[in-house]
Amino acid sequence: MLILGIESTCDETGCAIVRDGTDILSNIVATQIDLHATYGGVFPELACRRHIDVMIPVIDEALQKANITLDDIDAIAVAQGPGLVGALLIGIHAAQSLAWSLQKPLIGVNHVEAHLYATLMDQSPKFPALGVVLSGGHTTLLKMHSIGHYEIIGQTIDDAIGEAFDKTAKILGLPYPGGPEIEKIAKSGNSEAYPFRPGRIKGRPLDFSFSGLKTRVLYTSQGLDLTFQQKCDIAATFQRTAVQDVINKARLAVEKHGCESLILGGGVTNNQFLRDEFSRQLPEIQCHWPARELTLDNAAMIAGLGFHKMDQYVEGEYRMDPSVRTQF
Ligand code: KG4
Ligand code: ZN
Repeated sequence: MLILGIESTCDETGCAIVRDGTDILSNIVATQIDLHATYGGVFPELACRRHIDVMIPVIDEALQKANITLDDIDAIAVAQGPGLVGALLIGIHAAQSLAWSLQKPLIGVNHVEAHLYATLMDQSPKFPALGVVLSGGHTTLLKMHSIGHYEIIGQTIDDAIGEAFDKTAKILGLPYPGGPEIEKIAKSGNSEAYPFRPGRIKGRPLDFSFSGLKTRVLYTSQGLDLTFQQKCDIAATFQRTAVQDVINKARLAVEKHGCESLILGGGVTNNQFLRDEFSRQLPEIQCHWPARELTLDNAAMIAGLGFHKMDQYVEGEYRMDPSVRTQF
């Protein structure tokens, strides 16, 4: 079964063609980094306009690269949320129009769930597994029973981890997106230089809070003309504190919920320090990481997951299911 997937939840316009949930025939991503870099973060209105401009060329390119035509497609999958409302609408409307004009099934999928599915496209972990989503918009722990069956067991109550990386970078005057910049300069820093602590929420040991850590970075830097070495030290201490928090909570979740493996996903899983610390500190549990090209927002993970959600499709239905936005 050939599925055309569309992604437009934030600042990436993506279209991919995937066969039977795993075989990626094409995966085109038009990133908007250039557009938002001037503002140091995603400017939602501009993101929507760019999605409109590039959506059809991106779909065309995905079909060309896969060497197929629209007639060969069996179904359309689209990231239905969560995401920026205006940005989502562009992808959803493109998907609806295609599905309706071709009279093919339309499947809405959850973007956060798709980040974990990205890792399942080329690996078969043992279930039950602990799903760990670390992205610019989400920090979520899930107990995964199988594909499509999850329980959320922990999440951030404020900033997502990627957002904290990006804001820390902005405070240090580093370019957007800040995650990779923090990782780069942290290599030259002392990760014990400052007394940063992770956020704790009383009575909720598996939930996250990164806004306090970000504020510590702000207070440590405010009003100072930081040297490059001080910036490296702040970046290294921030990164170590945030990563350690995720590892501690993942370890606790694995013990508490009897998980047999770890499945990680989302843009922050690009971070090599994070990958190395997980392997070093949790050698007893198998960690499954997404392929590098599937860590950031992309449509291959949407088309792939859509294959497993085909049973949700109601004949002749081109409306989105509002429950998919929040449920897994
Ligand atoms: O998954 P993603 O594309 O977007 C959301 O769904 O939110 O993730 C983007 C996030 C950004 O916050 C970016 O700074 C972060 O992933 N990121 C990193 C690294 N590469 C990307 N964070 C830390 N270290 C990295 N190497
Ligand atoms: Zn994402």
